[in-house]
Amino acid sequence: MFNKIKMIPRSRVNYTFFDLFNLSFIKPKKYYSKKILLFLKSLFSQKNILLTPSGRGGLYLILKSLPQKNVFVPAYTCNAVIEAINHAKKSCCYIEVEEKGFNVNIDMLKKELIPGSVFIATHQFGFPTEIEKIKEICDKNNCVLIEDCAGSFGTRISNELTGTFGDFSFFSFDSTKLINAPLKAGFVIIRDDINFRKLKGIYDKEIQPMPFLHRVRLFIKALIYTLISSSNIIYKFFHLFFFESRNIITSETTRINPQLNEFYKYDVTGWQSAIILKQLKNLDDIISKRQILYNFYQQKIKNSIIKLPMESLDNSWVCIRFPIMIENKIEFYRKLVKSNIDSAFSFTYIVTPKDYRFAHKYAEQVLDIPFYYRLSCKEQNYIINELNKL
Ligand SMILES: Cc1ncc(COP(=O)(O)O)c(C=O)c1O
Repeated sequence: MFNKIKMIPRSRVNYTFFDLFNLSFIKPKKYYSKKILLFLKSLFSQKNILLTPSGRGGLYLILKSLPQKNVFVPAYTCNAVIEAINHAKKSCCYIEVEEKGFNVNIDMLKKELIPGSVFIATHQFGFPTEIEKIKEICDKNNCVLIEDCAGSFGTRISNELTGTFGDFSFFSFDSTKLINAPLKAGFVIIRDDINFRKLKGIYDKEIQPMPFLHRVRLFIKALIYTLISSSNIIYKFFHLFFFESRNIITSETTRINPQLNEFYKYDVTGWQSAIILKQLKNLDDIISKRQILYNFYQQKIKNSIIKLPMESLDNSWVCIRFPIMIENKIEFYRKLVKSNIDSAFSFTYIVTPKDYRFAHKYAEQVLDIPFYYRLSCKEQNYIINELNKL
């Protein structure tokens, strides 16, 4: 079905080529961003929300507004989180993750959290962390609780949306997340009014309108990005030239950018906001497709060398990845490539010290098979067939 000149991409954004040509400039400035904020405020029943240049940009602003020095994170996390902590000039401390699951180990958190610090509770890939217990531990230790909801937009715990438990939370509209902005955006929720005013002051000082040339560059990048993943033939050639011919498997590295780049600096534009808003209006469908696909993979993948992620029992999770675990994942990845299926590598190159055994086990073994809104039924069935054959 997928001959040699086609390949299923590792990721594909929700918006289409045509969405990039929206007419946002004919509406008053801020029209779309105001609509997004209204939508989010109603969805989360929260009044203090700000759009941010990215998830990491949101975390950076939160941390800059806090006096605490030590920031604790689960040891299996995105390097962008560590980058934001560094930029905010805080010290990063790690807590080991669970043996089964990708989130923080609660017993280790209880033992190691230093009173008067900050803890970032990540709902990794959309799998809910034990936030109620974490909140109790943070309250007891007088610690600030920030929820990392970069990958958990829509996931609920006891029927409440993730992002509504912590003192702060941040979300990402990156190209691999539930809602996609070209090429990144995000938002933060701030529970307390005083904290909100403080953060807004920092936001007003640091965030600038996106310069014209940068907007043009962003538009061109988004065109290329959308074009590449919209056709399996074009993607095959892209994969050959970008990955195979350079003998690389991912553009992820252990390098932490020492400079504040565009993901920390620029206001979300009207054009980006129009693209985000269109998806938010379709949120229920986007969520349900992901949940259906998650359950489909859970039921249909039957290969003893693949360890599947946890089963979702009541559709309260909205996952942005279907992270399978494989002992020799690079070899497995290459076999999938031969079958013309590409996969992504979440956090393969973590900067966490080597002693965090489980975090490194996940880094070594997690492979993300194609899992996105615009994955067709034909592609899904093909992936299952190939996975079960390997
Ligand atoms: C768990 C987690 N936190 C934070 C981020 C950073 O989000 P962004 O890429 O929008 O800066 C990501 C992004 O990949 C992530 O997966």
